[in-house]
Amino acid sequence: MTDSQGDTATVIRRLWPAEAMMLRDHLLRLDSESRRNRFGSSVSDAFVAHYVGRVFRSGTVVVGAFIAGELRAAAELYPLSEVLAHEAEAAFSVESGFQNAGLGTLLMERLLLVARNRGIRVLQMNCLAHNRRMQMVARKFAADLSFDTDQVVAQVTAPYATPLSLVEEAQAEARAVAGAFMQAQRSAAGRLLDLWMLPLPKAA
Ligand SMILES: CC(C)(COP(=O)(O)OP(=O)(O)OC[C@H]1O[C@@H](n2cnc3c(N)ncnc32)[C@H](O)[C@@H]1OP(=O)(O)O)[C@@H](O)C(=O)NCCC(=O)NCCS
Repeated sequence: MTDSQGDTATVIRRLWPAEAMMLRDHLLRLDSESRRNRFGSSVSDAFVAHYVGRVFRSGTVVVGAFIAGELRAAAELYPLSEVLAHEAEAAFSVESGFQNAGLGTLLMERLLLVARNRGIRVLQMNCLAHNRRMQMVARKFAADLSFDTDQVVAQVTAPYATPLSLVEEAQAEARAVAGAFMQAQRSAAGRLLDLWMLPLPKAA
């Protein structure tokens, strides 16, 4: 998804392995409560860096939400088997200044599209029992929630892939890449303009 409000546009697109450092920086920017909610317990910066080093193994898909060119939210999809997985685990992270503004819902929508187009029918999310916001996002997609003492497991079922769902994903990615390109061009043009407006050095 892209909107058309210039540099504040939200771009939802896949992240590539070469962009792992963006994911690391985003996860490091989570405040301590969000980080605990994301990982299920308090984890150190070193843990996050090590974790990101192993994210892009085969089959993993990471979808990001970029605002003004910066990765502010991410959804990770981990198929539960290497071949023809029908189930996957999903994890979400939205930086605190951007929470409760619909990004988690947008990412869930896109992740379900990605999952169904890869033959994955069941998406499972583990979250802490007090994490009502994550549970609310899952409920919007008709999740089955099972409650344990300190954990909730949410299961969302993805529909089967259709030619239309494949086209929908391809088009969304193409729009996002075009949006990211425009953003990069605008910021490069802005930098050029700044240089042009700099006062000329006085002659000696
Ligand atoms: C959980 C998380 C992914 C949700 O993303 P988000 O962008 O904040 O969520 P959205 O804005 O799309 O939706 C939140 C919904 O929860 C509702 N909500 C917010 N706080 C709530 C609460 N305390 N109780 C019940 N519902 C709540 C909102 O009203 C909204 O529903 P609405 O759209 O019907 O109004 C995000 O907050 C986050 O990353 N948190 C920290 C990490 C984390 O918890 N990860 C999940 C573990 S995998």
